[in-house]
Amino acid sequence: MKNIVVLVSGSGTNLQRIIDTIESGEIRNAKVALVVADRECYGLERAKNHTIETILIPRGKNFSSELGKVIPENTDLIVLAGFLSILKPEFCENWSGKIINIHPALLPKFGGKGMWGMNVHHAVIDAKEKESGATVHFVTPGIDEGEIILQKSFELNEDETPETLAQRIHGVEYEIFPQAIDQVLNTWEIRKTK
Ligand code: GRF
Repeated sequence: MKNIVVLVSGSGTNLQRIIDTIESGEIRNAKVALVVADRECYGLERAKNHTIETILIPRGKNFSSELGKVIPENTDLIVLAGFLSILKPEFCENWSGKIINIHPALLPKFGGKGMWGMNVHHAVIDAKEKESGATVHFVTPGIDEGEIILQKSFELNEDETPETLAQRIHGVEYEIFPQAIDQVLNTWEIRKTK
């Protein structure tokens, strides 16, 4: 059984999807051992509803070192599911190849500092992009720069707004995130990092 730690900052619908797809067997041979949040958020409630252990570490400069102390040694994968703090390089290096994130755009476009939440969707619309989507990637010290694991795109509609885009992207995330987690945990022989 592989142990997953999920990091959240928000409503946690991706966390819910992970819990549900472990239950349904789409993610094989895994359990969410711990959910860590960097602020009060509904993601914590979702974890508690499934009797998953939760820890709240307030965001700030000591977050990464405090996180390092609570992550169990036997953790196979750390999953950032709508997590907003930036992890320190040292933490990323300690867990190299074992941290993944979901980003609501087609990386390497529309990533990096400030590119989170609705900012991303506004930027995509302003740039008159023809497509958008979601990306699951490894987490490395460079923000949103780690190797891409899975990506799925779709064409923007004529009347697309940041709000409709956000909703469509969530749909794509619910599809590719469980697939990527299962792949990394169960089918990748070597965990590559760049
Ligand atoms: C997702 O769109 C994810 O790509 C981004 O934050 C959002 C989290 O949504 N990093 P939720 O909390 O899983 O509902």
